[in-house]
Amino acid sequence: MNGRRLGVLILGRGSNLQAIIDAIADGRLRAEIAVVISNIQNAAGLDIARVANIPTLVIPHQDSPSRAAYDRALAQALRTRQVDLVCLAGFMRLLGTSFIDAFPNRILNIHPSLLPAFPGLDAQQQALQHGVKVTGATVHFVDAALDAGPIVLQSAVPVRAADTVASLAARILVEEHRLYPEAIDRVLNGGWRIDGRRMVDTAEVTP
Ligand code: GRF
Repeated sequence: MNGRRLGVLILGRGSNLQAIIDAIADGRLRAEIAVVISNIQNAAGLDIARVANIPTLVIPHQDSPSRAAYDRALAQALRTRQVDLVCLAGFMRLLGTSFIDAFPNRILNIHPSLLPAFPGLDAQQQALQHGVKVTGATVHFVDAALDAGPIVLQSAVPVRAADTVASLAARILVEEHRLYPEAIDRVLNGGWRIDGRRMVDTAEVTP
């Protein structure tokens, strides 16, 4: 990857955006956020971006005649700002192939479970209901399937007997905030390739 310009796509709260901003500020992540985009006008995360003097953009999906048109508008906005890596942070819309093809191996997402367990919505609730003893967070590349692209980094979080969805989600979120900047840095630094489903170091010798 040549440049280190990020485009961060958010839907709401923006705590992962804040974690990325903090990691850049204290030197753990060498990158620049070129733009923060939301499809929701009053997303709280947009205020986080404004406070940090990061350009924001709202692209409401209601204004687009189709999903493909929305994806085109989004890709165009990111290209205009010369974004090198797209980071989804709570952006729940499933992106179409035209968007994904516009940024091959250059879109990351964070998900609150150890994928491939519990993809989709309410991952923490799914984990509690299933009765797993360990869950966690995953940063992965985005492809056309839901929460299924090659995994960059994962972090495990124990499930406690007394956990509620809220307490478990809060503990996973702490790990998300540590994991996402680290994964972004790893991807930006290069020295990796995608081999089937796996992200591998280019130095790694195939057995
Ligand atoms: C996080 O739990 C993330 O894993 C999921 O959506 C949530 C976004 O939270 N994809 P925030 O907006 O970053 O606070």
